[in-house]
Amino acid sequence: MAEVIAIDGGYKLNGTVRISGAKNATVALIPAAVLSDGPVEILGVPEISDVAALATLLRELKCDVEIDGERIKVDPTHMEDIPLVSDAVNKLRASYYFMGALLGKYKRVKIKMPGGCYLGPRPIDLHLKGFEALGAKITYEDDTYLLEAEELVGNSIYLDFASVGATINIMLAAVHAQGKTVIENAAKEPEIIDVANLLTKMGAKIRGVGTDTITIDGVDHLSGTFHEIIPDRIEAGTFLIIAAAAGEKVIVQNIIPQHLEALISKLKEMGIKMDVVGDSIVVYGRDDALKPVNVKTQIYPGFATDLQQPLTTLLTQAQGDSHVKETIYIERFKHCPQLNKMGAHIDLEEAASVIHGPTPLHGTRVEATDLRCGAALVIAGLIAEGRTEITNVYHIDRGYDNIDHKLITLGAHITRYHIDE
Ligand code: EPZ
Repeated sequence: MAEVIAIDGGYKLNGTVRISGAKNATVALIPAAVLSDGPVEILGVPEISDVAALATLLRELKCDVEIDGERIKVDPTHMEDIPLVSDAVNKLRASYYFMGALLGKYKRVKIKMPGGCYLGPRPIDLHLKGFEALGAKITYEDDTYLLEAEELVGNSIYLDFASVGATINIMLAAVHAQGKTVIENAAKEPEIIDVANLLTKMGAKIRGVGTDTITIDGVDHLSGTFHEIIPDRIEAGTFLIIAAAAGEKVIVQNIIPQHLEALISKLKEMGIKMDVVGDSIVVYGRDDALKPVNVKTQIYPGFATDLQQPLTTLLTQAQGDSHVKETIYIERFKHCPQLNKMGAHIDLEEAASVIHGPTPLHGTRVEATDLRCGAALVIAGLIAEGRTEITNVYHIDRGYDNIDHKLITLGAHITRYHIDE
């Protein structure tokens, strides 16, 4: 039996939705907590399955973990240097953050290859190069990495690509390295700043985060602290798109608008009316025809690749052709055949799609192939004629905190049930 999310489309949405803590910060903050000598309390934790998977890994390391609602307490006091080779490791991509954290803490780590959504090739060569530059010797056998270092010594590391994961992972290893580490061409995503803020509260010495040059002066001890996670800009972006597609008046609350400038300007270019009011954005339903736009995904602060798939669904309703160019994950187009099953008319090109609009969508059974594809299909289901059934909902639950419950409070008709596979 497979669980599906079923959506009866065509209902106008109204009301307020509160955005949860950022998934892509949370999944780095939790491994970072093991670098501390004492308990770390993190607030604003989203209720997503990635958090449960990380808690499993922490418990494998003999960490005390308490999760209650939006609060997680990680106490590494009785932690042990244990290899992370269980299947829980390849449940998510971010398990690779234990590489940097455990290398930083124990100067050695044995860990399985991380998992995560298939979006095309996702190597971790930049992470490994960074660890080697700090003095780690790396061997790979049976799908498992062993990283060992006599000493971790600060170094200058130039990233060939401003990778989010590599920037954070090298930072986690360098906070305990001797001397100064400089990461050049570092990524600038807000989630990286959030991790550096936690580490700094623990006693780390980090400068320049949020710019393309980060400097870390190694310290011997990091102590327990308390941290509140930033709001999830990708969940916020998804709900802004949902409001534009199916809303009359929707208030998306607990947002940092600066984090969404690229999306906001695209939605305005399409003709969507919205007001930014403090940490909320009010989105007014589309009354006029939506204009087609061209989008090119880029590293932050450019247009986020994680919003490319959700926006594609809205572009199916625009009056004309829109072009989407993907520069981060060249194969991130598995949502397009699923949307075409619902009546969209999307052509694929090399690392790009052409969305011919407007096309009325109709409900049918579709497959979430990854997290953001799942979001694109939820949006399609909200505007489609009839019922849409989305399979592989585990992809959606990995990164969206109670999305169906939040949509029901806005007036959507959504249920979950099981179907024969
Ligand atoms: C993070 O992935 C996010 N995941 C992704 O969100 C997001 O799409 C991505 O950053 C870009 O913003 C998490 O934070 C857990 P990268 P990450 O390293 O760190 C290549 C979602 O939907 N690369 O910045 O893995 C890589 O193949 C997920 O929430 C190398 O070649 O992204 C990709 O093409 C999906 N070698 C590009 O760089 C490396 O060592 C960007 O990757 C590392 C990356």
